[in-house]
Amino acid sequence: SPRAIIAPSILSADFADLGKECSNTIAQGADWLHVDIMDGHFVPNITFGAPIVTKIRSHVAKPTEKHGKGTFDCHMMIAEPKKWVKEFQKAGCDLYCFHYEAAISSTAAESPEATSDKKTNPKELIRYIHDCGMLAGIAIKPDTSVDVLWDILESEDKPDMVLVMTVHPGFGGQKFMASELPKVAELRKRYPDLNIEVDGGLGPGTIDQAADAGANVIVAGSAVFGANDPSEVIAKLREAVDK
Ligand code: DX5
Ligand code: ZN
Repeated sequence: SPRAIIAPSILSADFADLGKECSNTIAQGADWLHVDIMDGHFVPNITFGAPIVTKIRSHVAKPTEKHGKGTFDCHMMIAEPKKWVKEFQKAGCDLYCFHYEAAISSTAAESPEATSDKKTNPKELIRYIHDCGMLAGIAIKPDTSVDVLWDILESEDKPDMVLVMTVHPGFGGQKFMASELPKVAELRKRYPDLNIEVDGGLGPGTIDQAADAGANVIVAGSAVFGANDPSEVIAKLREAVDK
């Protein structure tokens, strides 16, 4: 697998002190920041939008290389992923990770020129994200089969990352679902170099299973921001993946 990328989820940070929280977690050894965008439609919760991303960008230096330190990994839990691509690029997002489920159900509404084959829409969205100058990620919820990804992973514009959710998206601090790990293992078997991200319930107690399955991009919200020593947790997560 590729090297570990540790991406603390700022969903568990102090929202009233977000700039400091973000620069601190990078100083404590994090590689990326995982930025959870929720719109109250795709998921029942609401977090924040592009104006906040713009503000936190000024506290964290832009990465100097693709996938580099300080990458803003924006997890778009939103019903209309195409609509916000440009806005988030302008705000300083580096990796725009949309949900497969949202892409296939929002085709007709937002993109009249899109092909009638709704299943091709995620591919178009990936191309659009690349054209806008960002890396593209595609996320699947626990109820979505990994099989929907094979065709997308073979397309001309490949996603730069796949996110396998290990909780139902919407809230931090939920219990890790080991039932999702066979998806990670199957992805890793077919794509030895792919960045495979896991998100939900990750921490020192669950990281070994995820790492053994082949995940290398590790999101952790409550485990990092709730720790007495976040740098120790970040180091532990990294060791488990790179061992
Ligand atoms: C859940 C979010 C996660 C969340 C993870 O919908 O996508 O990124 O912050 O939180 P923990 O690590 O606490 O499960
Ligand atoms: Zn997330």
